[in-house]
Amino acid sequence: MDSIRILGTGSYVPPQVLTNQDLEKMDIDTTDEWIMRRSGIKERRISSTGRKESTTDLATHASLNAIEMAEISPENLDMIVVGTVTPDRQFPSAACMVQKALRADNAFAFDVSAGCSGFLYALTVVNNAIQCGMCKTALVVGVERLSSITNWRDRSTCVLLADGAGAVVVHSMPDQGGVLSTHLKSDGTLWDLLYSSYGNSYTPEILQCIDQKPFHLKMEGNRLFKRAIGCLSEIAREALQHNSLSSKEIDLVVPHQANIRIIQGLANNLRIPMEKVYTNIHKYGNTSSATIPIALDEANREGFLIKGAHVLLVSFGAGLTWAASVLRWSI
Ligand code: ACO
Repeated sequence: MDSIRILGTGSYVPPQVLTNQDLEKMDIDTTDEWIMRRSGIKERRISSTGRKESTTDLATHASLNAIEMAEISPENLDMIVVGTVTPDRQFPSAACMVQKALRADNAFAFDVSAGCSGFLYALTVVNNAIQCGMCKTALVVGVERLSSITNWRDRSTCVLLADGAGAVVVHSMPDQGGVLSTHLKSDGTLWDLLYSSYGNSYTPEILQCIDQKPFHLKMEGNRLFKRAIGCLSEIAREALQHNSLSSKEIDLVVPHQANIRIIQGLANNLRIPMEKVYTNIHKYGNTSSATIPIALDEANREGFLIKGAHVLLVSFGAGLTWAASVLRWSI
């Protein structure tokens, strides 16, 4: 059975920075001190409606960066899977829009919706498709434009959420390595801890007025917080056990970036020092499906990953969903 190897990583965040100080100036009764202490976020990127910064645009930029590193051309792709909860339109999928933008004419393409675990769910689908011989070279994307479903008057959510995209190009390889395993869990009974009532990021003009938006993201942050550390720790342990690895043998953890205190709680439970945990939440906030591929790309480009390194990816989000994967780094 073939396994999959990561050939290239890429990411893209919109240039517009929204700092905690900017949020202080909005009429939402918050402070830089509260946001930093409770979440670890200092600033985040927000896409502009005026510029070309749709979900498809963000995903396409990130994908082109990954394709360039992989030294392939878009025609070599035979599968594109995008993890997102904010596609530009309800349909067609963001993946088909990205396929068109890349001119990846030989691929089939579709989205998966799994909240913040979207990237790891998408990676799992691609891993299985390659293992069963369905395709050879694939693009896996995590992208979000959460600003489009954020209620900018709700201080308990708007200080956390942001926009961005990350991508990896993967290819089948005959020997064992690359993605060693993936693990998925969900609990639909808790769907109402985090949801959007209706709609998508391509808002009709008539609904652009904030007060009329019927589909703001709603979150019970504190109840999610309490669940998150336990779920992340449980699935991370399952992934380590599956690969007969101890936490000491993990070279880098790349967790979903929802809250620095959740990440610290996970590291503490796994007895992994924070120096081995990659974080960039201070500069990008929570970009849902995009946090892991953005962090993976930055860790890769900054030289945190050397060939053969064991990398643990772990996520938690709406659904509820949670997921983990262990990689043997192959670039
Ligand atoms: N500024 C100032 N005060 C605030 C703000 C703010 N931005 N937001 C909330 N508060 C207040 C609350 O009103 C509350 O006040 P009260 O004590 O007078 O009632 C107080 O701060 C404490 O609020 P909590 O919600 O208990 O604060 P907590 O420490 O739980 O932090 C947070 C909130 C950051 C949302 C945290 O709960 C969290 O990170 N939750 C998990 C988020 C998560 O993992 N989501 C899943 C993935 S996200 C996705 O899928 C898109």
